[in-house]
Amino acid sequence: MAIERTFAIIKPDAVSAGNSENIIKIIKDHGFDIEDMKALQLTQEQAKRFYDVHKKRPFFGELVEFMTSGPVVVMALSKENAVQEWRDLMGPTDSTQAPANTIRGQFGTDVGENATHGSDSIENAKIEIAQFFPELA
Ligand code: RTP
Ligand code: MG
Repeated sequence: MAIERTFAIIKPDAVSAGNSENIIKIIKDHGFDIEDMKALQLTQEQAKRFYDVHKKRPFFGELVEFMTSGPVVVMALSKENAVQEWRDLMGPTDSTQAPANTIRGQFGTDVGENATHGSDSIENAKIEIAQFFPELA
């Protein structure tokens, strides 16, 4: 299987709870290569662009408010089958449904504050990496 890239965010809840280092260690321990990583505070504009696909959803305002509430860590990850493997490692969107051996199970709170983001396709990984790491695109 080919090496592919995915895009990850450690969301504001996990950063503010002091879980960034733990999550980075789990990512490395699962064989992902962190190609690039940086901490930043998303602007409203960046968060709205990033989650544009959800702009008609009832939770969009809450999502943008959450994602801009504090610093995040953005990462470009690579591994064989990286998109699916990172989604599997994160667990389901709703942290209350996430198994204990997943990142959301360990570090998430609920369906909104769920510790991490992961791209849902190779195509979207490319778009998301281009937004934050144009030099990798
Ligand atoms: P993500 O894009 O952040 O990796 O999460 P996901 O694919 O598992 O879930 P998605 O459906 O894309 O939703 C994006 C983010 O919006 C928030 N959300 N809140 N209140 C709600 O019902 C609700 N549903 C989704 C979560 O932060 C979710 O990760
Ligand atoms: Mg998603």
